Amino acid sequence: MSYQVIARKYRPKRFADITAQEHITRTIQNSLRLGRVGHGYIFSGLRGVGKTTAARVFAKAVNCSRMIGDPDYLKEITEPCNECESCRDFEEGTSLNISEFDAASNNSVDDIRLLRDNVRYGPQKGRYRVYIIDEVHMLSTAAFNAFLKTLEEPPAHAIFIFATTELHKIPATISSRCQQFNFKRIPLEEIEGQLHSICEAEQIKVDNDALQLIGRKAQGSMRDAQSILDQVIAFAIEQEDDRTIHYEKVAELLNYIDDEQFFEVTDAAAENDPKKMLDVARFVIENGYDEQDFLEKLIEHLRNFLVVYNLRSTRLIERPEQVKERYQRDASRFDSSIIMQMTDLLLQAQKELKFQFEYQFRFELVLLKLIGIVHPVGSLSSTEGEGETPEKKKPLIKN
Ligand SMILES: Nc1ncnc2c1ncn2[C@@H]1O[C@H](COP(=O)(O)OP(=O)(O)OP(=O)(O)O)[C@@H](O)[C@H]1O
Ligand SMILES: [Mg+2]
Ligand SMILES: [Zn+2]
Repeated sequence: MSYQVIARKYRPKRFADITAQEHITRTIQNSLRLGRVGHGYIFSGLRGVGKTTAARVFAKAVNCSRMIGDPDYLKEITEPCNECESCRDFEEGTSLNISEFDAASNNSVDDIRLLRDNVRYGPQKGRYRVYIIDEVHMLSTAAFNAFLKTLEEPPAHAIFIFATTELHKIPATISSRCQQFNFKRIPLEEIEGQLHSICEAEQIKVDNDALQLIGRKAQGSMRDAQSILDQVIAFAIEQEDDRTIHYEKVAELLNYIDDEQFFEVTDAAAENDPKKMLDVARFVIENGYDEQDFLEKLIEHLRNFLVVYNLRSTRLIERPEQVKERYQRDASRFDSSIIMQMTDLLLQAQKELKFQFEYQFRFELVLLKLIGIVHPVGSLSSTEGEGETPEKKKPLIKN
């Protein structure tokens, strides 16, 4: 059997399996029940959050024989049956009632005219022909205009679904003729949950922390999460009889900088310890990590402290439990205005570093400046650790 990537193998076949987009699937199912299906829809949102998937389930549902012929089923279940001939044609990719059109590569007026001519023909079987127009924001203005009339007076059998990651690029003339659905970024727990079920189905054992790491890397996109999982499986599973994935392997593959390094930075700042700070800088440079990326993550690390100060809880920190506890503990070493100043410095540095030579030297300098924020030159800050020698309390860099 040929190998199928996870994202395709686990593409939802029913509305109920589409995670985190209930606000959309519920509305569509209601309109199906009421027989009030529109002709134009815009599905917008981040890559890999279910736009094409929802469009395909929708197309399958409006043509499903069971949905059309069995009013009780329609009312109570409102899902494509996945068993009738039409549903099977959809699943096998042979249905003529769905056309997917990639507007990124077919964006001229001529392409749209072809599509427009095609739209005139009704379905041979089933009820509707559904046109999914992907990346619709890539159409030229002329192409959009060529489409307006069709959208204004669509044939009764046609449904257009415009999918886009950039809603603001769609002209109002088009969007005002459509129902708009904004797909959400998928919350981390739901991505973790989905990855967990997939691993179970694939008979793979995996640490929760490893799944969390993959989920975080995906930043709200389910497809990204699934692609990373594919990669992780290929990397971490060496023998068929030991299908286990450990956190360390995932961290290694994703070139993940462990939280420890970021705590070292805040420790060094709290303890007025430039040597410790320079050790972190050396670690980053020697291991070939990207300095910009490190700063980005360091900002997120500081943001986690701000969460503790502002919410008095670690609920919104996306980290394993023991790391959350450490945030809680370490928060008392600073106050929120210090953390804000550190964040400002890093945001500024991030902008400036892009245009600089002597990158590594400047990177070290930025980290050292963090110490200066906690321990301003000439002051004896009250946040300094107890029992330190007076020697150590002196402002840094003498040599
Ligand atoms: N909400 C979701 N619930 C479950 N699986 C999902 C969801 N969103 C995406 N996926 C998974 O990711 C894959 C890709 O999703 P889909 O093609 O629907 O993304 P998309 O929003 O159309 O992205 P793009 O903007 O890149 O076209 C699906 O095959 C499915 O496995
Ligand atoms: Mg898509
Ligand atoms: Zn069916």
